[in-house]
Amino acid sequence: MEVFSDSEQINEVIEAIKAQHLKIGFVPTMGALHEGHLALVKKALLNNDKVFVSIFVNPTQFNNVNDLKTYPRTLEDDLKLLEAISSEILIFAPSVDAIYKGNTKSRKFNFDGLELEMEGKFRAGHFDGVGTVVKRLFEIIQPDNAYFGEKDFQQLQIIKKLVDNYNIPVNVVGCDIYRERNGLAMSSRNTRLTDEQKNAAPFIYKTLKAAKEQFGTKSADKVTKWVTMQFKNHPQLKLEYFIIADVDTLKTVKRKSKNKVYRAFIAVYAGDIRLIDNIALN
Ligand code: PAF
Repeated sequence: MEVFSDSEQINEVIEAIKAQHLKIGFVPTMGALHEGHLALVKKALLNNDKVFVSIFVNPTQFNNVNDLKTYPRTLEDDLKLLEAISSEILIFAPSVDAIYKGNTKSRKFNFDGLELEMEGKFRAGHFDGVGTVVKRLFEIIQPDNAYFGEKDFQQLQIIKKLVDNYNIPVNVVGCDIYRERNGLAMSSRNTRLTDEQKNAAPFIYKTLKAAKEQFGTKSADKVTKWVTMQFKNHPQLKLEYFIIADVDTLKTVKRKSKNKVYRAFIAVYAGDIRLIDNIALN
C-alpha cells in the first residue's frame, strides 16, 4: 500500500491516473479509523477505479485545544486496517505544513447559513476549518466521488454546499451512520471513553429513537423538552443541545410541515468527550 506525505509526490500519481481517465474515489479522515470509516472505503472501492484515503488531524477545525491534543492518533493501526481491505488503497498522510504551507489558518466560507446552526453555534470557526481542509484536499486529490458519514450530518450538508457554492467538480456521497451493537454511533473519540462512560453512552441513541417515536404525534417543542428532561441529572452525560431541524436549512422546526424532511440532532458530553449523533425522523 502506498503512503504519500507531500502533495508534490501525490500530484504525479494523480496526473497519471487522470491521464488514463480512471475514476477516483476519496475518503477524507482524521484517522483512528473504525468500522464506519471502513464502510466508506469499501463503498468507494466498489464505485471507483482508484481510492485515496487521507489521514490528517486538521488543527484549524478544533475550537478546543485539549480536544486537538487528545484526539487519537493511530497511524500504524489505521494502515493495517486499510491494508486488510485492499493493498490497492492509496494513502495521503500529510504533515500540517504540507497542507497549510506555514500558514495554519482557515479561510472564511459562505455556506448560506448552514454553518451558523448547531455545531456552528457551539464550535466557533469549526466549519471554516473543515471547509479549508476539505477544499485543499479536493484540490490535491481531484476525486470524482468523495464519501462522508451521516454521523456528521451538518458537515455532510456543508460539504455539499461547498462544492456547489465554489464550483468544485466532486460528487459528494453521504453514507449511513455506523453503530456499535449497543447503538452508540461509531466515532474516533469513543476510544477515549472510560468503561463507565461506555456503558452510559448508548443512552444517547436510545433517547433519539424514543424522540423519533414521539415525533409522530407530538410537536417538535414537546419532544425537545422531553429529551432535555431525560438528561437532567444524568450521572454521566451532559446534554449540550438537542434540536429537531429541517434537513435542508438545518433550522430548528417551529411548526411541522408534511412535505419537509426532519432530523433530530444531539450533542452530549461524557466527561470532556463530546459525542454527537442524529436520527432521521420522517
Ligand atoms: O469528518 C472528519 O473526519 C473531518 O471533519 C474531515 C472531513 C476529514 C475534515 O478534516
